Amino acid sequence: MFTLGFVCLLCISTGCFPKHIVFTLMSFIVHLVSGLGTVMGKYGDTIEIPCNNGRVVEAEVTFVKWKYDKDGNILVKNQDQNTTVFSDVNYKNRVSIKQDFSLVITQVAMTDQRTFTCMVVLREDILEYPVQLAVYNVPSEPQITNLTTVMEIGKPTTLAQCRSEGANPAANITWFRNKTPLMTDGAAIKITTNVDVDKATGLSTTTSTLEYTAVKGDIDAKFTCQVQHIKSANMDSSPLVFTVNYPTEKVNLQVVSQGPFKEGDNVTLKCTADGNPPPSSYNFYIKGEKKTVDSNTYTLTSVTRENTGEYQCSLVDHEDIVASVPITVEYLDVVFSSTGKIVKKLGESLEMNVDVKASGAPQTSWKKGNAKLNSQPKFDKLMYSDSGVYECVVSMAGLKKTHTFELVVEGSPVIKNLIKERGEGMTKVLKCVAEGFPKPTVQWSVNGSNAESVSEHGKVTYSLTIVPNGNLSVSCTVSNVLGFDIKSINVSLFSTIRSADQKDEKSDQTILAVGIVFGLMLAVLAIGLAYWLYMKKFRQGSWKTGEKEDGSTEESKKLEENQSQKADV
Ligand SMILES: *[C@@H]1O[C@H](CO)[C@@H](O)[C@H](O)[C@H]1NC(C)=O
Ligand SMILES: *[C@@H]1O[C@H](CO)[C@@H](O)[C@H](O)[C@H]1NC(C)=O
Ligand SMILES: *[C@@H]1O[C@H](CO)[C@@H](O)[C@H](O)[C@H]1NC(C)=O
Ligand SMILES: *[C@@H]1O[C@H](CO)[C@@H](O)[C@H](O)[C@H]1NC(C)=O
Ligand SMILES: *[C@@H]1O[C@H](CO)[C@@H](O)[C@H](O)[C@H]1NC(C)=O
Ligand SMILES: *[C@@H]1O[C@H](CO)[C@@H](O)[C@H](O)[C@H]1NC(C)=O
Ligand SMILES: *[C@@H]1O[C@H](CO)[C@@H](O)[C@H](O)[C@H]1NC(C)=O
Repeated sequence: MFTLGFVCLLCISTGCFPKHIVFTLMSFIVHLVSGLGTVMGKYGDTIEIPCNNGRVVEAEVTFVKWKYDKDGNILVKNQDQNTTVFSDVNYKNRVSIKQDFSLVITQVAMTDQRTFTCMVVLREDILEYPVQLAVYNVPSEPQITNLTTVMEIGKPTTLAQCRSEGANPAANITWFRNKTPLMTDGAAIKITTNVDVDKATGLSTTTSTLEYTAVKGDIDAKFTCQVQHIKSANMDSSPLVFTVNYPTEKVNLQVVSQGPFKEGDNVTLKCTADGNPPPSSYNFYIKGEKKTVDSNTYTLTSVTRENTGEYQCSLVDHEDIVASVPITVEYLDVVFSSTGKIVKKLGESLEMNVDVKASGAPQTSWKKGNAKLNSQPKFDKLMYSDSGVYECVVSMAGLKKTHTFELVVEGSPVIKNLIKERGEGMTKVLKCVAEGFPKPTVQWSVNGSNAESVSEHGKVTYSLTIVPNGNLSVSCTVSNVLGFDIKSINVSLFSTIRSADQKDEKSDQTILAVGIVFGLMLAVLAIGLAYWLYMKKFRQGSWKTGEKEDGSTEESKKLEENQSQKADV
């Protein structure tokens, strides 16, 4: 071939063929020799198509012509002459030539995808350099149309259409679900892609429609459309999320109120279904009675123990989809045999009856005043000390019943003790100790200064301070609404002084009155011996029925008593 070309060149120089034949032959030959270069140009841009890659030496060139396809003439440039642009409709306004003979075309369009040939006439040679122009254009960002919002499980749904315009070559569109590309699989996924070429511009629009059959796993799945093109980076649409609708398979019934429940509480039940969207109404079964409500809650107001039981809810249109929940209403009934104020007589018996009915095992505790009792109080023989405020607390599962009552033990007054003591100076203090409730009033048989002090339950000590001016028998009378008691005591001036001398003034007189005392002591000793013998006998006999004396000063009292008795007799 090279040989043939060489021969032809020789031919041209020797003029052995007509010129146009030589040209035709030449172009064919050169074509083959130089091969077809390709230039890429962006749609709408200005592009330079080089002539033999810019390796044409200007000085050697006499004539350059750019032409296209078979017989389209664009321009020619003679050495040292202005460029002549042919009046070709396609190019006359868009072309120019550069110093290095590159053809410059502005506003490149798809129709410019063709072969341009640079013909160079040297002094003796004619060469042709054909160049293929390829025009590309990057596609637009993906546009989502026909977007649906809801997909139903098991039902094929057209989710969206993705569109990308103005591309050359045509863009590819790929759908992704959570970053995994989707392919038509003949079942759940069907992707339909269309490429339309615009007649005017020659650019392609790719549209891809995704039809998808959802499963439960598609809840929250993100779908994206990606546009891929050789001349641009991949472009992703914003993620698309769909509401997945699916039927209810199960309902659930909950008690939303905080238990445990007691009588009078409101109890709210809530029925929920696992379908999407959730049903707007439900059936509630209250004590076997069906109630259809346009809500998922049902409130039982002011429940009673009768409300204890099993509750159910179901779908309205599928009554076989049902759930149930048990409700227990706790109750605590406490009945006391007596209430308020209990008044009892001393020595009587008392038993408290507490009748408890409850839904569980209650706890009972007792208090008297502030002191805890270990067990329920039970009295065989009431004492004044049993009086007081009692509190009983019965509790169970947040329920609490408190009962208080006041126990009053009353009785006719009884004088427990009547004693005499030496008071200030010449005075004597009589003490009358009585027990009884309501608090007795006292009456003394003689005038004096009164005082009283209440000690423990029902016990009162009445005091009377007197100055005895002779031998007296003093009586103490105590009384209340229930009765009275009376006791007497003998008081003598003499015995008082004697008693005082013997007991308290002995030490003061010791030294001075040693003789007198000694003598007296002898006498006393003799009396004492007689007294002792007498006492021994008396105790065995009738003394026990006599008045009881205060223990601490018993000895002196006995002595005094004896003496006063003696004096009286
Ligand atoms: C080229 O064209 C310009 C005007 O367009 C003219 O002035 C000039 O003389 C021309 N040159 C030649 C060599 O024809
Ligand atoms: C998309 O919506 C347009 C109208 O908005 C409609 O003409 C077209 O047929 C729809 N395409 C699909 C695939 O549903
Ligand atoms: C477009 O898809 C075709 C066919 O699947 C493929 O050959 C080509 O490489 C794709 N182009 C891009 C830019 O991904
Ligand atoms: C129970 O509900 C009724 C009305 O629905 C209300 O008046 C009452 O206060 C509620 N009772 C309780 C204990 O919340
Ligand atoms: C006690 O005193 C009152 C007056 O203060 C007098 O009337 C009464 O007679 C007196 N009783 C005795 C027993 O002395
Ligand atoms: C008191 O009794 C004593 C003896 O019992 C007697 O000696 C005395 O005289 C009596 N005094 C008066 C004032 O009666
Ligand atoms: C008091 O003295 C009288 C006689 O004066 C006598 O009968 C009585 O028994 C005495 N009482 C007491 C408690 O000693």
